[in-house]
Amino acid sequence: MEINKIAVIGAGAMGSGIAYWSSFNGFNVSVTEQNDELLKRGMQKIKDNVITGVNKGKITPKQAEEIMAKIKGTVNLAEAVKDADIVIEAVFENMDLKKEIFRKLDASAPKHAVLATNTSALGITEIASVTKRPEKVVGMHFFNPVPAMKLVEIVRGNKTSDETVKIVDDLAHALKKETVTCRDSPGFIVNRILGPILNEAVLLLQEGIASREDIDKAMTLGTNFPMGPLRLADFVGLDVALEVSRTLEKGFGEKFKPPSLLVEKVKRGELGIKTRKGFYEY
Ligand code: CAA
Repeated sequence: MEINKIAVIGAGAMGSGIAYWSSFNGFNVSVTEQNDELLKRGMQKIKDNVITGVNKGKITPKQAEEIMAKIKGTVNLAEAVKDADIVIEAVFENMDLKKEIFRKLDASAPKHAVLATNTSALGITEIASVTKRPEKVVGMHFFNPVPAMKLVEIVRGNKTSDETVKIVDDLAHALKKETVTCRDSPGFIVNRILGPILNEAVLLLQEGIASREDIDKAMTLGTNFPMGPLRLADFVGLDVALEVSRTLEKGFGEKFKPPSLLVEKVKRGELGIKTRKGFYEY
């Protein structure tokens, strides 16, 4: 299937990154948020990505303008998806919210459109169950920051068709990403492994075994992590890390239980870089 138009639902760190990267690679994009204020912030995040692209010498100022011109922002979800060939949902990690969105997408997107979710860990089969096209629902999991991270994880729900998997695999390659494919299971591949790593780093801090700096230094110098796990948790967002951990705990039990320090930080609104305070101050 030829993809001309991509609709992105949600313009947080992931949605804005996906919108930018899709336009960067030549696609027409619509992006939608719940209200004008969030849309304005999302469009600014897309511009920030464009500026980074120029500063890193990846695009010229003229190309930057063309990239922005291919991205249309709207607060009207039905309008955003009405002529989309694929929709990529990237809203907060909450099953009820995702189901509500997928009901709306199913009602408003063209019949041929694939409905993909960028969920970090939630069940694709359960999200697909609220639609009349579960064979066209699939996990398309990008990583943060989208322009720099080379992977897209493709997750098959119980009813996802081979054709749908091929469409998103082709799209990921058109977006210059590598892909891996897996069955629907909490956390898929990456977050099932990364979730416990982040949790153990938080537990080391919580138990007073080492300082935040030494935990991160140990993992960057001892295992060549590009950034330490506590800094990475701040980067991903502690609210997202907590939701991932809760999904893993629900699926696999006690060993994935989120550490109390992570729960407390989220309760206090210390969510990492986006709130300027997490395990570090920004
Ligand atoms: N436009 C175009 N290209 C861009 C760009 C942009 N806006 N931003 C970056 N790039 C390009 C760069 O030019 C560079 O290209 P080359 O390799 O050709 O030079 C490439 O992307 C890498 O970018 P940087 O040079 O900025 O990267 P860096 O070396 O400074 O590393 C980092 C920064 C990528 C963040 C690195 O520290 C890192 O990998 N950290 C770990 C990040 C991580 O693990 N993310 C996953 C989190 S988990 C997740 O996201 C999933 C979830 O569900 C929670």
